[in-house]
Amino acid sequence: MEKSLVLIKPDAVRKNIIGKIIGMYEENDLKVIALKMEKITEELASKHYEEHIGKVFYKPLIDFITSGPLCALILEGENAIKKVRDINGSTDPKEAMIGTIRNLYADSNRENCVHASDSTESAKREISLWFGKEYL
Ligand code: CMP
Repeated sequence: MEKSLVLIKPDAVRKNIIGKIIGMYEENDLKVIALKMEKITEELASKHYEEHIGKVFYKPLIDFITSGPLCALILEGENAIKKVRDINGSTDPKEAMIGTIRNLYADSNRENCVHASDSTESAKREISLWFGKEYL
């Protein structure tokens, strides 16, 4: 069993599709083991996206992710990290496979509805950051 940290971003919350997105994970045998909704601070946003500091899209990314409430969740299942990323689709919705969350619902490579951990190491870091080490 593996765990992944997922964010349902402010654009998806504004579109009222939290339930549709969680449903897509649940239909694929992923279990929600932790869940919270909040409008995050710039401090948490900058820790979450620390690997992107200095990139041209960093500032607008922080502005977007702090622009309204989001949902953070931990999903658990077999091969959860890859499975979640497959369900999400490519970062840019124009490149996302048909039927993926970003193909169905995302507007751009910034407002792309969801974030998910991209490796075991990032899952550990992100789960600790959002929920605490006791969830590892
Ligand atoms: P996410 O999976 O949350 O991880 C980093 C985020 O940066 C990514 O999704 C996108 O929302 C954003 N991002 C990545 N590349 C670009 C880009 N070229 N332009 C704007 N935003 C980007």
